[in-house]
Amino acid sequence: MPAKVRKAVFPAAGLGTRFLPATKAQPKEMLSLVDKPLIQYGVEEAMHSGIQNIIIVTGRGKSAIEDHFDVSFELENMLETRGKTDLLAAVRAVSDMINVCYVRQKEALGLGHAVLRARELVGAEPFAVVLSDDVIDSETPCVRQLLDIYQFFAAPVLAVMEVPRENISAYGVVDAEPVYHNGSSDRLFRIRDMVEKPKASEAPSNLAIIGRYVLTPEVFESIGAVEPGSGGEIQLTDGLKHLLRSRPVYAYRFEGTRHDAGDKLGFLKATVEFALARHDLGSDFREYLKSLKL
Ligand code: G1P
Repeated sequence: MPAKVRKAVFPAAGLGTRFLPATKAQPKEMLSLVDKPLIQYGVEEAMHSGIQNIIIVTGRGKSAIEDHFDVSFELENMLETRGKTDLLAAVRAVSDMINVCYVRQKEALGLGHAVLRARELVGAEPFAVVLSDDVIDSETPCVRQLLDIYQFFAAPVLAVMEVPRENISAYGVVDAEPVYHNGSSDRLFRIRDMVEKPKASEAPSNLAIIGRYVLTPEVFESIGAVEPGSGGEIQLTDGLKHLLRSRPVYAYRFEGTRHDAGDKLGFLKATVEFALARHDLGSDFREYLKSLKL
């Protein structure tokens, strides 16, 4: 049996330039879809996948994230005195169920660099990586889907989805061969090669890496061995490509819908879909949208 995955790393030190001015004094991970910050969707996904230890890689100006996962004594006291038990439960739910620790990425030198900052806290055990820009709506949490593959093959695995050619250069892209697993051969792939943000004409496939990974600790050595790549940054994709030299790495086309909440249009779409799915808001919101007669 491979070692149990107990920890999830959340890189959260990016500058959030795509959402300026909203992110001038507020981390982009704290932007909310309806009423929940992006990072909380990812933390809940990890939690519902059986992971309780959360490592957040932060940078300057990210203290709102720390406050969010901390106990807010004044707020809880006020909700309790006013008998607002539902809100109290919502506020407590996350901080009660997980352990969070923080490590600083002093300079935004790339995703691989951010993951490497978590090395000491992760130690010599497997771990998940969750990018909170990618919000995934699925019956089985996406991290759980990857953990099932990891447990079966005892090898690193990352989430992929098919994206149209014209969008492929926004992603890490894999060159991979199908692996027959659980009665099908169109979900699991063994990676042959991968490349971060290729030109559309040079992309090896239409399978794009989405921000969920289950990795083994050898990846730290590999990340440490690569030079800055796309955008002059230390890329996680390059670290994983280096890891391929010494062990198999899998890609899993997960079941579920991924929202690109790191993009303005993606963020708006996710907001509408999540609001429509809410019991307390959905029907009024649907009526409102219909009334717009677009
Ligand atoms: C990161 C990864 C990329 C991946 C993407 C998924 O890129 O580097 O490989 O495809 O997340 O969202 P970013 O979007 O941070 O530029």
